[in-house]
Amino acid sequence: AGHSQRGVRLADAAPAGAPDAPRLTIVYGSQTGNAKRLAEQLAARSESAGLAVRLVRADAYPQRELSKETHLLLVISTQGEGEPPDDARGFVEFVAGKRAPRLPGLHYAVLGLGDSSYPQFCAIGRQLDARLAELGATRFAPLGEADVDIDEVASPWSVRALEQARGALGNAAPAATRSATVHALPARSPHSREQPFHATVLANQRIVSRDSERAVHHVELSLQGSGLRYAPGDAIGLWPTNPPVLVEQWLQAVRLDGAQETSHQGRTLPLAQWLGRERELTRLTRGFVAAHAAASGHADLMRVLRKENATAFAELLSGHQPIDLLRRYRAAWRAEDLVAALRPLTPRLYSIASSPRAVGEEEVHLTVARVEYEAFGTPHWGAASTFLSMVDEDATVPVFVESNDRFRLPADGARDIIMIGPGTGVAPFRAFTQDRRETGARGRNWLVFGNRHFTRDFLYQLEWQEARRSGALHRLDLAFSRDTAQKVYVQDRLREQGRELYAWLQGGAHLYVCGDANHMARDVHAALLDIAVAHGGHAPDAARAWLADLLTQGRYARDVY
Ligand code: 2AM
Repeated sequence: AGHSQRGVRLADAAPAGAPDAPRLTIVYGSQTGNAKRLAEQLAARSESAGLAVRLVRADAYPQRELSKETHLLLVISTQGEGEPPDDARGFVEFVAGKRAPRLPGLHYAVLGLGDSSYPQFCAIGRQLDARLAELGATRFAPLGEADVDIDEVASPWSVRALEQARGALGNAAPAATRSATVHALPARSPHSREQPFHATVLANQRIVSRDSERAVHHVELSLQGSGLRYAPGDAIGLWPTNPPVLVEQWLQAVRLDGAQETSHQGRTLPLAQWLGRERELTRLTRGFVAAHAAASGHADLMRVLRKENATAFAELLSGHQPIDLLRRYRAAWRAEDLVAALRPLTPRLYSIASSPRAVGEEEVHLTVARVEYEAFGTPHWGAASTFLSMVDEDATVPVFVESNDRFRLPADGARDIIMIGPGTGVAPFRAFTQDRRETGARGRNWLVFGNRHFTRDFLYQLEWQEARRSGALHRLDLAFSRDTAQKVYVQDRLREQGRELYAWLQGGAHLYVCGDANHMARDVHAALLDIAVAHGGHAPDAARAWLADLLTQGRYARDVY
């Protein structure tokens, strides 16, 4: 029951009636749902191919069974700085650790997911792939490394891996033993990532004051007629269009005509359309740096690509958009080559800010911070946030629902919840608070919110104050970082309230963190460890174990990006 509560379809037992039959086990670790989606697809396809399959989320995988597996597929993503997804931390530690068993009888294949605009691209997939070999296991398909245009690599990889698995298992395996296999949920909506719904914009309002340094918008979309359903904790996937001014800048920088008909992989479109709707223009990748180095013949760019210059390369990736390279290192690009060198545009995920119980099933709200900054003397934009914050009411935007089973309200409404969400990280907590109000949950709700300035950036201020008055919110702690000489962050508030926070957690509270992964979530994690030491009397090691245990129990959940 513990598993199905979290909404994941798992099979814990060996296929009924065939205890020793060879079986394909698929283990996945997923932060935003992509690895899960691929693992589910692999499971469904293996099953149709007649294989006995079991699909298990990494944190539900019984580790002692690893040495008994004969065929294992691992699908796992890598987060920002080379971290595993939360649901795979234990699994990765186990496999990488000293206590991992020898695995001479295991055949395996790893599909890694990642984002090549980070230097630690697919680090966890690589690590597991190498480690399993070191433990004596045999690879039956080479490591797959999928970038943000996931299917480009994942689709051919899956076909190949399944062929290999079938070759090895096919004869020995009985016809699919259904009891332990996985069935794709019946699709309730014809709309998906590949077939987004064109949602009408019902409202688009700036919710920070005029003089705020960062524009934040509250966007309401209609899902009417889509069949799409969502729950608090889920995200909306959005296919953006690049800002038209950015496309103009690109065309100028490469001195090409936007009207030029340009072919790539059998499709022909005007270049401006490739750049506006089909290609990623705001994220720099190693592939593009390499292509531009070759096109421009510039020695600086060639040099930064060398292994020994990894630090300089990481700085280049994080501090620049492709347009900066186009301007600095002139190159004679042909339209076709440019389109081929750029990654396909991918959807962006926005944590949903509404509960269907409060706003109706056919409406969904988002909180969008517009990414906009000066660099090298010119303005820079984020693709989706610019698109969304500027979109007119009554226009439509292509969307789908990305469910997030690891970020859910406790099934038991009597449990307390602690919500830590600075900036637009507050979005899912608006959904949580609305939902608990509608269901009449008896547990207490505690929000810790932070932003730059109280008077300018207090997102949904009136709603929180009203929720305090009506009793829908029991505690509200605020950290405005730029109102005082000394910065105050959410983790400072947590430390101040450490005793109370620890008491809530000991009382069974669920704790949630949403927002920036690289700095905020890491610093909050450190604060939680300090609190366990200061108020729980734990030694540092025990504090780490305590927090890791909260993570595996699903009582410490993170939606960070
Ligand atoms: P700052 O920009 O003034 O440093 C939302 O962006 C809020 O998160 C802002 O108040 C921002 O503060 C703050 N913030 C920045 N870095 C943070 C960190 N490491 N931990 C917590 N909050 C942080």
